[in-house]
Amino acid sequence: MSALVDVGREGAVLLARLTRPEKKNALTSAMYERLIAAFQEASLDPSLGALVLTGSPGVFTAGNDIGDFLAAAMQASASNVETAGGRFIRTLATFDKPLVAAIEGPAVGIGTTLCFHCDLVYAAPSALFSMPFVNLGIVPEAGSSLLAPLRFGAARAAQYLLLAEPFGAETARELGLVNAIIEPEALLAHALAKAQALAAKPREALLATRRLLRGDQSALLQRMDEEMRLFYERLRSPEARAAFLAFTQKPKG
Ligand code: COA
Repeated sequence: MSALVDVGREGAVLLARLTRPEKKNALTSAMYERLIAAFQEASLDPSLGALVLTGSPGVFTAGNDIGDFLAAAMQASASNVETAGGRFIRTLATFDKPLVAAIEGPAVGIGTTLCFHCDLVYAAPSALFSMPFVNLGIVPEAGSSLLAPLRFGAARAAQYLLLAEPFGAETARELGLVNAIIEPEALLAHALAKAQALAAKPREALLATRRLLRGDQSALLQRMDEEMRLFYERLRSPEARAAFLAFTQKPKG
């Protein structure tokens, strides 16, 4: 069975494409596993200089599969075993080569928070970012509770993480989450060209500069642990179960 992520080489760049458009590219454990493998391949192969992440025409991702969230929420024992999503987030935050995203349409939850870990983000005018964790009875992940206030300021972070208001491509660009807005026909080619440009630079100087730009990661990794602890706790809360059930039981159409 396909893992619903296509991974292929474009010269010195590895391209990972989410291919579950009928479910708005909602991310399952199998998809996270495939993404983790792609990150590992890009990291370990010296012929690869960057990784590009993209979705399908019209949708980046609807975030974590809510059916999977519900299944985890229904597990009787509060096991602390890290999920594939948790491992993906750690892989994302510790990836050691340039990461570029090309985003069209909804980028929900991890679809938005992964942008904090990208070096470059390009978005189509249709891009719509949202971090509706609180609405779902859970808490932010991927270090976004630390990175959103740092990037946006406290007022905007409250607007997008507490009120959970969605925001469009133009706002994302103003906030410094997105580098440029590109028409959908040219979006992936643009992102790939920028990734190829990074991959062609003197590798060691580029990676050393990237590490300097990121600085000391210990506060980030510590916050991610704290978020994960709360996240798994919240996942099994009555608030979260009710929100997941409301989504999975919503009438079709
Ligand atoms: N998990 C599981 N299935 C999802 C999903 C998710 N996160 N997001 C969408 N889907 C499914 C829908 O259930 C629907 O399936 P169906 O055709 O079998 O009924 C299909 O994908 C299409 O979704 P739909 O809601 O009809 O598309 P839309 O264009 O009206 O809206 C979204 C797109 C992304 C705005 C909307 O699907 C949404 O809000 N999804 C949930 C996002 C979310 O809260 N994610 C968790 C973040 S932490």
